[in-house]
Amino acid sequence: MTSARTVLHALKPAGALDVARIRADFPILSLEVNGKPLAYLDNAASSQTPQQVIDRLVRYQTGEHANIHRAVHYLSEKATAEYEGARRKIQRFINAREEREVVYTRGTTDAVNLVMHGYGRAFLGAGDEIIVSQLEHHSNIVPWQMLCEEKGVRLRVIPCNDAGELLLEDYAGLFNANTKLVAITHVSNALGTINPAKDMIATAHRHGVPVLVDGAQAVPHMRVDVQDLDCDFYAFSGHKMCGPTGIGVLYGKAHMLERMKPFEGGGDMILSVTFEKTTYNAIPYKFEAGTPPIAAAIGLGAAVDYLEGVGVDRIAAHEHDLLVYATEAFAQLKGVRIVGTAQSKAAVLSFTLQGVHPHDVGTILNEDGVAVRTGHHCAQPVMQRFGIPATARASFYLYNTFAEVDALVAGIRRVQKIFG
Ligand SMILES: Cc1ncc(COP(=O)(O)O)c(C=O)c1O
Repeated sequence: MTSARTVLHALKPAGALDVARIRADFPILSLEVNGKPLAYLDNAASSQTPQQVIDRLVRYQTGEHANIHRAVHYLSEKATAEYEGARRKIQRFINAREEREVVYTRGTTDAVNLVMHGYGRAFLGAGDEIIVSQLEHHSNIVPWQMLCEEKGVRLRVIPCNDAGELLLEDYAGLFNANTKLVAITHVSNALGTINPAKDMIATAHRHGVPVLVDGAQAVPHMRVDVQDLDCDFYAFSGHKMCGPTGIGVLYGKAHMLERMKPFEGGGDMILSVTFEKTTYNAIPYKFEAGTPPIAAAIGLGAAVDYLEGVGVDRIAAHEHDLLVYATEAFAQLKGVRIVGTAQSKAAVLSFTLQGVHPHDVGTILNEDGVAVRTGHHCAQPVMQRFGIPATARASFYLYNTFAEVDALVAGIRRVQKIFG
């Protein structure tokens, strides 16, 4: 184990992350839990927030807050400029062609639901088909099922192999004249599989079918370029990428967003209202009814600055090192099954322990200050595919250390002793 770490450290390129310095940015990481240093390994559920983002929120609330787009006074103009400035940062971060292609939402779930209501309900009907994958989070399944119930649309599912990799030949075989949308995750939250999104999008486009990508687990961890992917829609959440809760993004190609119907009606999404007729605002405002989470949007802009400052590629490399190290350490543990062993994998380690329920694993690890997620990870079809009710899941981020992996492994050994 130690030798694996030594090798990894020796192989680190110049410019690798200074994790100690990064950790100093995150006040919450110095917490002790049950008298032990916190090892926060539940980043796929939600990441922690650096002081830079916290400070940005405080600066906004203490010196910049007013409602946006509505008044000519100083504070309203300031808040509007910062809110729109954050949109431009996000546009550059994901390389969207235009800032109007960035719609603020409450998160990934909200973004998928927006496409379901604005695109699905408007353009899909009885007999049409939507292709999803076996690896989806519930938030990229349930909205489409609601559409199926309402409109008589049908879901087709791309299966995966025992490693958790999608079967691409099966995927290609699912297309027919009724296929109207593909909705796939970029990275599986339950297994860590990185899907070949660009190729899958190209396949769909050859059939003239648009693609929505759930990027909740991708944008925080790897460089995402929506123009290079050529996706039609791309959804992600702020709270998984060092930003606040309550904010996320739907990227959509301008011509797709323009075709879409608004989902919520109200202030700010209109150009004019009479009792006879209302005309809608231009994109993205057409989809941002009412007072939006202004502070959270500005906070997300600060999170983007933070991640850019550290370097997304360096973050990805560090997480990969942690994954390799942890996977090697797990291989030494008897009775541990890693669920999800794709060739191309993000820093998510889902596992089961022979004879121990994952909830017991999580509870005992918590006594050691180690925070992992246990359960079905809002991906019950994945659990069904692998014939298990749940897993324990460690998921890493830029501030995690090799010592925290050691704490996880030591905690698992303790679980095994207790249940031995
Ligand atoms: C792959 C994936 N999609 C969607 C979501 C939903 O994100 P949110 O709860 O922020 O809307 C998650 C959250 O865990 C996720 O991991």
